[in-house]
Amino acid sequence: MARSGSGGTEGAGGGKSRFDDIYDRPDPRAYFRRLAPLQYEIPHHAQPVFRRVAAERAALDDGRPRRPAVLDVCCSYGINAALLNHDVTLAEMYERYTSPACLTMSTAELAARDKEFYAERRRPDAVPVFGLDVSAPAVHYALEVGLLDTAFTDDLEQGSPGPGLNRALAEVGLITLTGGGSYVTARTFTALLDGARRPVWASAFVLRTVSYQPIVRALAAHGLSTTVDVSRSYPQRLFTDERERQYAIAAVRALGGDPAGREEAGRFHTLHYESRPDTP
Ligand SMILES: C[S@@+](CC[C@H](N)C(=O)[O-])C[C@H]1O[C@@H](n2cnc3c(N)ncnc32)[C@H](O)[C@@H]1O
Repeated sequence: MARSGSGGTEGAGGGKSRFDDIYDRPDPRAYFRRLAPLQYEIPHHAQPVFRRVAAERAALDDGRPRRPAVLDVCCSYGINAALLNHDVTLAEMYERYTSPACLTMSTAELAARDKEFYAERRRPDAVPVFGLDVSAPAVHYALEVGLLDTAFTDDLEQGSPGPGLNRALAEVGLITLTGGGSYVTARTFTALLDGARRPVWASAFVLRTVSYQPIVRALAAHGLSTTVDVSRSYPQRLFTDERERQYAIAAVRALGGDPAGREEAGRFHTLHYESRPDTP
């Protein structure tokens, strides 16, 4: 793989820089340090949306005794779980994990501090959150500090859910996704929905450079209708360089979008897709 201008690696996936080396560290410091200059911000935009959708899904009586769990796909170090269930902002997480005080800690020290930090900020309306990510170190950290109730590293792009994930799917009522639309496809969504045992909604922020339509079709095949307001986009991050900007502009145009004022201005933008059962 070729290095690109400022901190990313150009992947085979069409010209978007990749950051694979920060996804599988023992703790989230490198992730935040690398993404801070690029102003990666999509979990911040997702926070109020996921809180609203999770509350609406929890309020739906589906005849099951236990509260439905949120399954955060591509959950990484549990960032969406932190923002959903705790009084914390993404800006505070950037500050925390890039601070000089945190830099000198061992992973064990950081994990112990994080456990207290998130416990003190736990919201009364916290919902169960399960994580799915191919990075074992990342989900291990999220579990250790109490951000996730359970987590799985099954790669559903390559195979079927294992017995643990299969059992957990019985509890899932909402799938969330940020920063993963370039990694998971309809294969992952189909595997998850095939294993669902209660009504599952989906709430996903996906780059405008990527078509969500194959996933929309997979969701429709499982009785879900998807809505999206294409006039409203949410910025994801700055481009690493001009090469990535040109790639994104071309990719958005190829999908029928208009990059003016969005990708042309220097950032990836996402659309928010929300999927719910056709019949309540
Ligand atoms: C850009 S990060 C997004 C993390 C987090 N959701 C956020 O927005 O900050 C992408 C994540 O997708 C994960 N990933 C890549 N391929 C995957 C797959 N096939 N299934 C599940 N997770 C995957 C990576 O390990 C990485 O943690």
